[in-house]
Amino acid sequence: MPASYKGEESIEGKTVIVTGANTGIGKETALELAKRGGRIIMGCRNIEKGQEALKQIVEETRSDQVCLKELDLSSFDSIKKFAKEFNESKLAARSLYVICRSSSDSCLSRKLV
Ligand SMILES: NC(=O)c1ccc[n+]([C@@H]2O[C@H](COP(=O)([O-])OP(=O)(O)OC[C@H]3O[C@@H](n4cnc5c(N)ncnc54)[C@H](OP(=O)(O)O)[C@@H]3O)[C@@H](O)[C@H]2O)c1
Repeated sequence: MPASYKGEESIEGKTVIVTGANTGIGKETALELAKRGGRIIMGCRNIEKGQEALKQIVEETRSDQVCLKELDLSSFDSIKKFAKEFNESKLAARSLYVICRSSSDSCLSRKLV
């Protein structure tokens, strides 16, 4: 039986980083949390696919609180750049609510061992 959670809790005012947000679970998570009023940062490796996903999410939610940032979790340079930009943004002054890591970046764990 498929999952069928129907809650409508608001996360208005909260900031969420969703990795792997251009497709699959990450995209659905970004969409659902945008519907609930969150500020969503879509962290995507493939910016072209990310822009397409961002367009669809904005069209569906009419939210102006969703943005796209480049993030390749297999590259420490990319992670550091993403974190620096986040820390320097207005968003960092507000609380980061959650990081939702839905990317299939198994290469990162391989590099760490
Ligand atoms: N779908 C399921 O039923 C299910 C069930 C249990 C667990 N999971 C796990 O949940 C995760 C997501 O599943 P999914 O079905 O949504 O997978 P998916 O559709 O293949 O999406 C994977 C996402 O991860 C991104 N990604 C891969 N490597 C990355 C990297 N180095 N840096 C940044 N992003 C990277 C991909 O971006 P690009 O477009 O750039 O490739 C894509 O956005 C996977 O780890 C999967 O094993 C899935």
